[in-house]
Amino acid sequence: MISEKEYNSKLAEARSYLIERVPSLPELGIILGSGLGAFADLVKDKVTISYKDIPHFPVSTVEGHAGKLVFGKVEDRSVVVMQGRFHYYEGYTMQEVTFPIRVMQVLGVTGLVVTNAAGGINPEFRPGDLILIKDHLNMMGENPLRGSNLSNLGPRFPDLSEGYNSEWRKKALAIVQEHEIHPHEGVYAAMSGPSYETPAEIRHLRVIGADMVGMSTVPEVIVANHGGMKVLGISCVTNMAAGILPQKLSHTEVMETAERVEKKFVNFVQGLMRVL
Ligand code: HPA
Repeated sequence: MISEKEYNSKLAEARSYLIERVPSLPELGIILGSGLGAFADLVKDKVTISYKDIPHFPVSTVEGHAGKLVFGKVEDRSVVVMQGRFHYYEGYTMQEVTFPIRVMQVLGVTGLVVTNAAGGINPEFRPGDLILIKDHLNMMGENPLRGSNLSNLGPRFPDLSEGYNSEWRKKALAIVQEHEIHPHEGVYAAMSGPSYETPAEIRHLRVIGADMVGMSTVPEVIVANHGGMKVLGISCVTNMAAGILPQKLSHTEVMETAERVEKKFVNFVQGLMRVL
């Protein structure tokens, strides 16, 4: 685990690199989940920077993740879009997984829209549904804030009783109808992966209150909250979780559903840029 001083100096280097290259500082951050990358095409006056060029940024390896930051405007809002994220299961530390959120924070981002692909646990959900995350269960066995507190960035014991901002959820719910989205909300359980869950694990998650399950999001959301950001989370249900239906899970199904829903999803996030 790296020291507070070392972490802050890495952050400062990444910040200076980006500040020299972007036309305006972003107010909103957006993380695009698996196969949902087309949102980046909407960004106007964009400046695209590969993760590999940003000092101290980890590099993304997973199929379907492009690995770049896209700065620019959507609906006249200054945004930074993460096209491709870092997953804990890839072997990154929690500090690496959440480094981009810290970079956003030191660039002045005050709100974050996080998206992901998830397995549906709630039997009312269907593959292709977009669900607003109302809360989460951290089942990853780790917390990105463990270690000495980055006291310049946030408090030692941050409150997570509104990890997903309720005003923002209301605003999102107010526009779901025009996007033909059923107004579902759910609790997202994060597992470390990369194996999909067993049917027994899914039964366990259901009993403890999960509506969907995935392998991302929670580390980023914890760090965003620590940094004082408002967060909105959206899951795209790409498959029903293990044991919910009598069929096997596959990454191909996950990618195919994400692709099928991409347009609807992109329009929804664009709509959010007008109301958040
Ligand atoms: N489990 C975990 N992560 C996922 C799933 C799932 O069923 N679908 C998409 N990401």
